[in-house]
Amino acid sequence: MRIKTYNTKQEVASNFSRYLAILLASEETSHIALSGGSTPKVVFDELAANFQSDIDWHGVHLYWGDERCVAPTDDDSNYKMTVEHLISKIDIPKENIHRIKGENIPKEEAVRYADVLDENLPKSNGIPQFDLVILGMGDDGHTASIFPHEIDLWDSEQYCEVATHPDSGQRRITISGQIINNAKNVVFLVTGEGKAEKVGEIHNKNDKAKMYPASLVAPESNNLVWFLDEAAATLI
Ligand code: 6PG
Repeated sequence: MRIKTYNTKQEVASNFSRYLAILLASEETSHIALSGGSTPKVVFDELAANFQSDIDWHGVHLYWGDERCVAPTDDDSNYKMTVEHLISKIDIPKENIHRIKGENIPKEEAVRYADVLDENLPKSNGIPQFDLVILGMGDDGHTASIFPHEIDLWDSEQYCEVATHPDSGQRRITISGQIINNAKNVVFLVTGEGKAEKVGEIHNKNDKAKMYPASLVAPESNNLVWFLDEAAATLI
């Protein structure tokens, strides 16, 4: 595992964008799982503004590691955020976008999206393999949409599961642990002081951290990089 710490969220965004450009240049076709949240928003803006000539998006297939069970036009939709900040600004074929359909019946969508992964991704260990899974961590310790109160979803035998937000009750679709740990590369993008305590617990192997799925992220490939800003890294 590598930990890279930068002064600001903006520096996290530009350094991750450079990492991504190098990774994408090494493959003709890449399959990437995106995440939602505030940090990816800055990353997407950076990719669209400053990396147009570094990335050929024609060979890149975009998926999501999690999605809220809402329409694609809803402000809560991770897909909508990605369209606004990235997809609408880059030259990527429509057929390369594989969104989770948050408007569908959650249980049915989890099964459908597992099939999408099964049909489109190359396999390793008999399991679909992403070239890159991008993850974040919420202030409450959730990663993808696996929340501490549903940590068992991590070990699901399914590729995708239906999760429930502990406060709002909002349903979400999330990929499970076996998909995350089977990826060729996994990256965490974590910024802000609200994350510092949990980032510290995870990296110092505190007992409490067992409830956070981020502490279970250990890809077989060993290619795991945490991109942090100073504020999130203060307690490591
Ligand atoms: C989501 C995300 C989620 C996200 C974290 C961190 O849709 O909620 O995919 O897992 O990564 O909430 O979000 P921030 O970038 O806002 O810290």
